[in-house]
This record gives sequence, structure tokens and C-alpha cells, in this order.
Amino acid sequence: MEELKKIEGKENKMDKIVNLCLRRGILFPSNEIYGSMAGFFDYGPVGVELKKNIENNWWKFVVNDRDNIVGIDGALINVSKVWKASGHVDSFNDPLVECKKCHLRFRADQLIEEELKISMDGVGVKQLQELIDKHKIKCPKCGGDFTEVQVFNLMFKTHVGAIENDASLMYLRPETAQLIFTDFKRVLAVSRKKLPFGMAQIGKAFRNEISPRNFVFRSREFSQMELEFFINPEKMNDAEIKEDDLKTECFFYTQEMQEKNIKHEKMSFEHALEKKIIGTKWHAYWMIEFFKWFKSIGIKPENLRFRQHVKTELSHYSSETWDLDYNYPWGWKEVEGIANRTDFDLKQHSKFSGDELSFFDEKEKKKIIPFVIEPSTGVERTLLTVLIDAYSEREDGRVFLDLKASIAPVKIAVLPLMPKEELEKKARGVFDDLKNKIVCDYDSSGSIGKRYSRFDEIGTPFAVTIDYQTLEDDTVTLRYRNDMRQERIKISGLSEKMKELIDE
Ligand code: GAP
Repeated sequence: MEELKKIEGKENKMDKIVNLCLRRGILFPSNEIYGSMAGFFDYGPVGVELKKNIENNWWKFVVNDRDNIVGIDGALINVSKVWKASGHVDSFNDPLVECKKCHLRFRADQLIEEELKISMDGVGVKQLQELIDKHKIKCPKCGGDFTEVQVFNLMFKTHVGAIENDASLMYLRPETAQLIFTDFKRVLAVSRKKLPFGMAQIGKAFRNEISPRNFVFRSREFSQMELEFFINPEKMNDAEIKEDDLKTECFFYTQEMQEKNIKHEKMSFEHALEKKIIGTKWHAYWMIEFFKWFKSIGIKPENLRFRQHVKTELSHYSSETWDLDYNYPWGWKEVEGIANRTDFDLKQHSKFSGDELSFFDEKEKKKIIPFVIEPSTGVERTLLTVLIDAYSEREDGRVFLDLKASIAPVKIAVLPLMPKEELEKKARGVFDDLKNKIVCDYDSSGSIGKRYSRFDEIGTPFAVTIDYQTLEDDTVTLRYRNDMRQERIKISGLSEKMKELIDE
């Protein structure tokens, strides 16, 4: 709760969203009754539906709707060699400082960002130290001096079995991606796919973040939705991109703009490719696809931008990375990263395991080690982004979430006008009929206005009210969430009409 209190003092809109999440049981700190540990959260009944809807939507878009992408679900705890090979044991670090007086530890880059109000993206350990010295930055809690900036590895370790030694050392995965690389050979054999093809996964990842913050934005246990798309390195520009998609415009924040300290600019993907701002066509293809996906789940495009990683910031495995940033109440930050991982991971795992991870091209009669484009998205971060983007207030201060019907936790609220037996009986009939086809909820307690508000707050797009007129002519009131418009429709055509509205 300490962490939530910190957020409360920070941003008004964010306070309201955190309060909504707690009040309506969307997401809340885990192990709350024992005093929670920062960075761990549980989903309540509304949150779990929203999470599943986001994941299912992603899975359909990435896996089910394409014939060249397959899914896997890998183990969470992996032998240490996996993470040695991937480079995480040596390089998956964040900069850390400790207060010499109160011994609180901080992530150095975040500390400086907060003190100086400038972005620390891509700033190395040496420069961070220089900034702390130059600006005489002290511990925000007690005013004490800091130790030198050190690096801190973010992986959680565990020992498996009864003996604790090097052989039993395993790691909780800090990203889902590596399981795709370690499963590459078997999945390629069973799926018989040809290049280019992809493997996707949704699942938990664990990072021992130094200072988890901004509610679920940076937590220690979270879920990722990751795609590794394998391509012949000689065909990185062979992607077919539709004309309309190429003409799509969005904000770009290139390396050059960041170096010159100028604002992001709007441009088309076509322009970004022509000017070689985006390195390869397959990279552009996946940037466009995910820009479309975020829009399809309701995120306003003016709140999104692609930011290119500056050279000093690139992960050890990446030759080019674009973050899809969202304009959060605390500034533009990454919701998704799209990296060109080259052949780094397959080569490393081939080397460390002795098992060759390559693709045999029947036509050209040669082995290829594919390059990989990796779009990687956090589930919680996407969910938080959706909540922030959808959060709306009416003139009188009442809250509603402007969620797309496709991801709304409940699509229809079925409400008898009053808790009277004859109305409840009729309403139950309507609910029983709808609930087999569409996710609905039934509520008869409290005034109708309060019930509408309760469902508005969790983003339920439609409410169906059963009143005394229903008993006479078998019609119900259909209420729309955003403009509160109401219309009268026949029960006989209700499920058809609702399906149409939800599909829209
Ligand atoms: N496989 C590449 C990879 O893991 P990343 O940029 O470290 O790249 C990808 O993470 C996405 O995972 C981020 O864009 C973010 O949405 C999510 N993510 C990363 N760290 C997170 C954390 N501590 N809490 C919540 N989400 C996180």
C-alpha cells in the first residue's frame, strides 16, 4: 500500500484510476491482508475478465488469424544455462544507488529523472554518476549521500530439489522470449512451417525491479505477450505491406530528434522507410500491425508514438529497437518494444546447448539462421494503458470507462427496474437467454441510477432494463453507456441486435 500512497500524491487522474481499480476489484496489491510487497498484484473478478479479453484479442490477432504463426506455453523456471546463453546473467542489469544513511536503494536513472525532470533513456552508468555528482542529488527520504552507482541483476534465482548448489540453480524467466528460442527446433519440426514464420507466447515474467512504480506499470511479477518472427536475413525487406498501411501516419521520435532534443514528428511509415528511419521492411510491417492492434483495442492514436532506441540504450541482443510509447500521466513511456534481435539468440543457444538451431531451406539447399523481429508487450501495462485511455467523467463527475465492447469485462447489464418478483422473473428469463451467447451480468439491488453507474464504471457498453411495459408488450429499454441514450426494442430481436452492436 506504501507504493499506492506514493502514486496518490502524484497525479490526479492516476489517483482516480488506482482508486477505481481498488474500489471495483479490478487490480489490487497481492497478499493485502498481510501487508503486501511492492510490485505484486492480484486481479479481481472484473480485472481477470479484462485481462483475458486483452490476451484473447492479442492471441487471435497474432496467432489464430494468421497461418504462419503458431503458439507455445513454456515453463516459468528455467535452467541457468538458458539465461547465461541469452546474456541475461551478465547483462540484465539496472543502475542502483544506496543511501549511506538510511540504506534505501533507488534506481539511479529514475531518481535523476524525478529530480531533474529530464529523460534518462539510454544514459549509461558513468553519466548517471556524473549527473548525481554535478547536481548533488541526495536521498529523497533522509537527505543522505549515495554510494557510487552499481549495477543490479534483475533476475530472481531459486534452487530446485533438496540440494543447493550450482547444478540446482535455476531462474524465474525475466521474459517469455527465451522459451521460444529454446523450443525453436522442436516446434519447427512439428509445425513444418517455412520462413518467414512466427512463434508466439503469453505468460508470466518476473523481474526483481529495484523500485516498482506507477501501480502495475512496473511490477515484479507481470505477464508478457511476445512474438518472435523468424525471417531469412537476406529477405528482411520482402514484407508485403498494403498501400493504405504504408500511408498510415503516426508520431515518430527518432534517434536524431532525441539527440537534437526536438519534439516527435508525425510521418507516414512509407516516408520512414524511404528515408531509412526504419531499418527494414519487416520491422515496419510489425510496427504497423501493432499500431493497428492498439487502435483496435481502443487506444487513441494521438496518445501513441514510436520512439527509436538511441545507440547506448539498445539491449545486448538488438540491432534496432522501436518502443511504442503511450502518453501516460507521468510522460511518454513504453507500452511495447519492437526489436530486431538478429540471429543473436539462436546462435547463442546453438553454442551453449550444442544443438544446432537453424532452418534448412529445401529450395536453396542450405541452412539458414533466421533473423528475428520481436514485438513484446506487457499485459498489465496494456491493461493500465486501456484504463487510462478509457477513463472518462461526465459533467456531474460520474465516471465511465469508454471501453470497446470487444474487451469490456461485461458486455451487457441485465437490470429489472425494481426488485419486484414479476420484474425479476421476466429479467431472469432475458438474462438466461443472453448469457449463453454474450458475457452479461444481472443486478437487481439498489436504485436503477446507481446500478447504471456501477456498470458504467467498469465499462459495460450496454444495459437492458426490464420494466412494467415489458410485461405488457415484451419490449425492453436498451441503454448506451457513453451518451446514456435509450431506445425500446423487442425481446425477440434482442440477442441478434446485441451481437451486431458488440461486433461493431
Ligand atoms: N523480450 C523483450 C523484452 O522483454 P522489455 O522491453 O524488457 O523487452 C517488453 O519488455 C514489455 O514488457 C514492455 O514493453 C512492457 O510492456 C513489459 N514490461 C517490462 N518490464 C515490466 C515490468 N517490470 N512491469 C510490467 N511490465 C513490464
